[in-house]
Amino acid sequence: MIYSRPLIITILISLIIVFAHACGGNDTSERPSGQTGSAEPALSDFELEHGIGPVTERIELADEFDPDLVEKGRNIYEMKCEMCHNMEGRMVGPELGDIMERRSAEFVMNFILNPSGMVREHPVGQELLREYMTAMPFQNVQEEEARAIVEFLREYNELN
Ligand code: HEC
Repeated sequence: MIYSRPLIITILISLIIVFAHACGGNDTSERPSGQTGSAEPALSDFELEHGIGPVTERIELADEFDPDLVEKGRNIYEMKCEMCHNMEGRMVGPELGDIMERRSAEFVMNFILNPSGMVREHPVGQELLREYMTAMPFQNVQEEEARAIVEFLREYNELN
């Protein structure tokens, strides 16, 4: 039996349409909603913007700097941060002179308090680790000390 060429083409096209529909049509409905297929847990909006760590809420920042807090932050910074960070230009880690323009106070505190979690689980941390190829160590800094460092960095950013 001899089929005409248009008939064969029509059958082929019909088969392609049926196949495409069966294979791709209800792909998404087979996955439980919310699951992206990657092993990483989804970050909340807060975590994406303000980092992962002990700081889980916005903190209050007064317009005026607290001079005692600035001084305390400066001392800790000189002891525990300066060996790896410059205010101007990169060193072992990124420059920090303009960090308060680039990141929120909560993000900076979470990076100080949970550096390994940040490079493991946060997209910004992962990107920084790829770029700097050294993992920032936890410097045994308490939460109020991290807050003081933020005050010092805020003032630095304002004055320079
Ligand atoms: C041993 C070197 C080292 C020390 C000490 C160190 N850091 Fe870091 N820091 C890094 C590196 C490297 C990165 C980039 C992320 C990574 O690779 O872990 C980084 C990243 C950061 C970031 C994120 C920068 C951005 O662009 O978001 C902040 C904020 C930061 N450090 C603050 C500090 C503070 C404050 C201290 C002192 C308490 C400190 N670091 C101590 C090496 C260090």
